[in-house]
Amino acid sequence: MGRVVGKVALVTGAGSGIGRACALTLAREGAQVLVLDCAPTGAATSAAITAAGGQAQLFQGDIGEEAVCTEAVAETMRAFGRLDILVNCAGIYPRYSLADTTTDVLDRLFQINFYGPLFLAKHAIPAMQRGGGGSIINIGSIHGLCGSGDLVAYAATKGALLTLTRTLARTYARDQIRVNYVIPGWVLTEGELATQAQEGHDEAWLRQQGTALPTGRIQLPQDAANAVLFLASDESSQLNAAIINTDGGRTWF
Ligand SMILES: NC(=O)c1ccc[n+]([C@@H]2O[C@H](COP(=O)([O-])OP(=O)(O)OC[C@H]3O[C@@H](n4cnc5c(N)ncnc54)[C@H](O)[C@@H]3O)[C@@H](O)[C@H]2O)c1
Repeated sequence: MGRVVGKVALVTGAGSGIGRACALTLAREGAQVLVLDCAPTGAATSAAITAAGGQAQLFQGDIGEEAVCTEAVAETMRAFGRLDILVNCAGIYPRYSLADTTTDVLDRLFQINFYGPLFLAKHAIPAMQRGGGGSIINIGSIHGLCGSGDLVAYAATKGALLTLTRTLARTYARDQIRVNYVIPGWVLTEGELATQAQEGHDEAWLRQQGTALPTGRIQLPQDAANAVLFLASDESSQLNAAIINTDGGRTWF
């Protein structure tokens, strides 16, 4: 307990899945958390943190708009006076083959999965510099490294996010701002369940698929949140530009 006491975190996508687990975990370990989501579900995360004795500030907005990112950082500063941790988790992963990939598809995916993290970092970094350092954790995907034929645009956004991770890590290391990339594996979340439902698969099917994975189960949001906590804490002070993969080794086996 208490691994991020005294720190302030801004977590996007905190109303569901991996982002919610990150927000709850960071709050449990002592951070004050700005809970950001475009959906009203962020309120339940914020309420859960408060009910457990933590401190949360709710912020609803679409990170695809730079003005929202500017305001989210400003709201964090108003509520808590500093910003130490940025978890860029909000994301969408609709399936489009190359043949189905249009300008509209690319625009929406890049707005949320890439512009959002970039603009949040742009506005968070000056606050982190003033505070003496920080940790930015970008939630990526194995598809950002390896690509995927039915996630063409998504894979491109996550590849761009990895490049952004390394660019910022290199640029701001001397400011004690670390920037790292977490690959969560195949995770049982509301978003993944909705994706699978479109193809006629239910939660039981998803869990069954997990038994064929290296560790014998599908990943859970907490698996990624544990890595995020480590990267957010001072325990990882020499991890920068790193990829932490919580997929149980699936990438390699
Ligand atoms: N679930 C997986 O298997 C998996 C695997 C690899 C990577 N990821 C990545 O993890 C992240 C979270 O995925 P998840 O499965 O928890 O998804 P999820 O759909 O369960 O949760 C995503 C949350 O982000 C919010 N969000 C979406 N667009 C937003 C926007 N424009 N502004 C603000 N909030 C927005 C949603 O409202 C939702 O609450 C994504 O970046 C995804 O690409 C997920």
